[in-house]
Amino acid sequence: MCGIVGYIGTKKAVPVLINGLLSLEYRGYDSAGLAVLNHSSALKIVKDMGRVKNLQNNPELDSLDGSLGIAHTRWATRGAPSKNNSHPHTDNSETFTVVHNGIIENYDELKSFLADNGYTLHTETDTEIIPNLIHYYYSKNSESGILSAVSNALKKLEGSFAIEVISPLLKDTIIVAKKDSPVVIGVGEGENYVASDIPAILSYTRKFYFLEDFEIAELTSDSVKFYDFDLNSINKEIKDIEWDAVASEKNGYDDYMLKEIFEQPTAIRETIGTAFASDDKINLPLDGLDFSKFNKMYIIACGTAMHAGLATKYIFEKFAKFQCEVDMASEFRYRDPLIDEHTLCIFISQSGETADTIAALKLAKDHGSTTISIVNVIGSSITRLSDYVLYTHAGPEIAVASTKAYTCQVTLLSILAMYIAENKGLSNIDGFNELKSDIIALPEKVKSALELSDSIKELAKQNYTKKDMFYIGRITDYAICMEGSLKLKEISYIHSEAYAAGELKHGTIALIEDGTSVIGVITNPQISSKTLSNLDEVVTRGANIILVTNQDVDVSSTNIEENSIIRIPKCSPLVSPVIAVVPLQLFAYHTAKFKELDVDKPRNLAKSVTVE
Ligand code: F6R
Repeated sequence: MCGIVGYIGTKKAVPVLINGLLSLEYRGYDSAGLAVLNHSSALKIVKDMGRVKNLQNNPELDSLDGSLGIAHTRWATRGAPSKNNSHPHTDNSETFTVVHNGIIENYDELKSFLADNGYTLHTETDTEIIPNLIHYYYSKNSESGILSAVSNALKKLEGSFAIEVISPLLKDTIIVAKKDSPVVIGVGEGENYVASDIPAILSYTRKFYFLEDFEIAELTSDSVKFYDFDLNSINKEIKDIEWDAVASEKNGYDDYMLKEIFEQPTAIRETIGTAFASDDKINLPLDGLDFSKFNKMYIIACGTAMHAGLATKYIFEKFAKFQCEVDMASEFRYRDPLIDEHTLCIFISQSGETADTIAALKLAKDHGSTTISIVNVIGSSITRLSDYVLYTHAGPEIAVASTKAYTCQVTLLSILAMYIAENKGLSNIDGFNELKSDIIALPEKVKSALELSDSIKELAKQNYTKKDMFYIGRITDYAICMEGSLKLKEISYIHSEAYAAGELKHGTIALIEDGTSVIGVITNPQISSKTLSNLDEVVTRGANIILVTNQDVDVSSTNIEENSIIRIPKCSPLVSPVIAVVPLQLFAYHTAKFKELDVDKPRNLAKSVTVE
């Protein structure tokens, strides 16, 4: 996965391209590069290994005075991270220059085709295929023009791509095309922008076009034209985006992740929005959907978003009265699931661009299932493919590790479960009104949980040198543990596992020895004493524990020490994931900071996984 930016207008292109790349660094950061068509008509390319700031400080940029350019930040897929493999790439004759986000799956076939036609590839990347293919078609029939050569080349590509093409032959044009990788076009006055996502160019414009799969855009400084891959013209509508560009900056916090953790009360409040504005009916944009036609439901997502599904499965079962399965999109898409028009499929995604989730969504639609998506990024691919969309209003999430998107997803899924119950005439179920008050109280309770940051920092200080860490809990507490454990491993690189507390004694307890760290979560009175005994069992085997709880647990008859308990605000166990995850997010954050790691951009990870 990678990020792309483009600019055409009257300003100097380099600062716009660098700003865009800095904002897109979450998508990849092993190398970065840009190409600018200078006023002398010479096309100059500058690349650097590592972070965008290396490129930004490269003195070669001083010689780039042009107002047309494309840029790229890379997360290596095919071809190791290296200066040679970093984008932009050109064809053998240096006529066409391309940046690309995605993967060309028929690389071997196209490489042989090009070799048979006298082309040599100089990098290990699949991207280098693209400018050479364009050149091949252009040299065969230059009268048809460059757009035609691009469209012929695109038709040969299998896989995913968002590309930008420039050439000294095109004095005032950038060509953009897309299939299965995101790209937006920002419209200015006498200038136009391209980016992999909205925040990268939000400080320049609020007016956007969303390119769909199999579409090409031809940008000049004062026009944007759209075509399909056969070069038939297409009319597209401009959308006004209201996100605040300031919200995409750090606002005085050391890192985006910490800022985003502390934004959770506001993000949750915004996500609840007007859902409970009227006393008689929950308000969600799902008019006309009759839930009585479904006999089961699936929640499908990846990573943290999938954990939000696991955390809310019980609410759907209790209130919506559906058999609810939660599945990883990467598994669901290949396992021939038993779904049909009587199945409700809910997809969760912060970015709305996750390749596996998109494939699973397409599969569900092919089987005739109704699809509702819970998405954060407005206008993203998943929103355009789904029958219904509910937005989490978390605002831009920049840190790679997801925090506020998760708590907003759990909140919105809980509201959806209530909406379905109401739609099915089940709002008299015990606990329905209490759940509503609990959801409304979430922003304040999360705010109180955030006050624990300093004491959690102390615990992180005691644990940051550990090699392993276990998280245990039952039912929703187990789902919370899975998310806490994922946060710790992804940003602190400490090996960590989450277990259903009752499963420990079936094998894993063998790993517990003197000094092993175990975090327990207890938010459900029904199983409070059970998890407490599991924690006692690990303490007697030498473990150091941290217990996150909102229950009045009595540890006097156990070996657990009172000072190992983190007390969080009380709430129903059904919504406790939103509150109990906060200390776990903070623990992961402070642990990574003690290890002096880059919390916003952990190694090997990218913010949105647009390749399989
Ligand atoms: C972990 C994390 C990932 C994402 C996953 C799905 O902190 O962020 O596990 O949750 O890649 O991404 P989205 O929600 O964009 O589909």
